[in-house]
Amino acid sequence: MIKLQGKKVFLSALERDDCRKIWQETEFDFENPPDYFIVGASVEKADELYSDIQSKQGKTQIRLGIFLPSEDGATLIGDIALLDINWQDRACTLGYGLTKIEYRNKGYTTDAAITILRYGFCHLGFERISATTLEHNIGSQRVLEKCGFTLEGRERKAVYIAGRRYDRLMYGMLADEFIKLHGTKISWSS
Ligand SMILES: CC(C)(COP(=O)(O)OP(=O)(O)OC[C@H]1O[C@@H](n2cnc3c(N)ncnc32)[C@H](O)[C@@H]1OP(=O)(O)O)[C@@H](O)C(=O)NCCC(=O)NCCS
Repeated sequence: MIKLQGKKVFLSALERDDCRKIWQETEFDFENPPDYFIVGASVEKADELYSDIQSKQGKTQIRLGIFLPSEDGATLIGDIALLDINWQDRACTLGYGLTKIEYRNKGYTTDAAITILRYGFCHLGFERISATTLEHNIGSQRVLEKCGFTLEGRERKAVYIAGRRYDRLMYGMLADEFIKLHGTKISWSS
């Protein structure tokens, strides 16, 4: 199986059990809630995620697992995706998340994001990649800034979570901006 190699993590296909693991292990930071927080979804939803990935992979999205290499194999720590692919405009949207809180703040998402962005810009030929996050999600904003995204806009009070409304921040990056910062060399392994 082909892997995209980052400096700290590698990206690879998500199998059915991986989707279940993501579903079961994801820990929510209730102080900083993500906009996809839904109570009551069972593990069957993870199997739906797996089927959804299979039907969209390489067509309208590319979703991969984020794996941390270890001596006895690798640990799945989250997922990352190029979503809403528009092949005519050569544009898409970046999305990501880590499962356990213990994996966060260690540079893993920044590394994973640079790895999949390089694949998107330098192998698939995207001209523009967008991303959104909520105003309170400082970690996600830092990831995007470190990758080289530009803050392009703010949708005021766009999202409602638990009695509060949050602004949605809109970011974008162009191929030449990415290449200037991070280069073009993709690192593959199998
Ligand atoms: C947001 C999230 C993806 C960040 O990933 P991460 O792997 O922790 O980010 P990194 O370790 O690459 O951190 C990048 C920078 O952000 C900082 N950072 C990370 N989390 C932070 C937080 N909660 N508060 C402040 N800064 C934070 C890091 O210190 C680092 O900054 P530095 O390099 O200047 O020291 C991760 O916390 C997560 O999965 N959260 C839940 C899901 C989610 O919010 N997904 C994104 C939806 S838009």
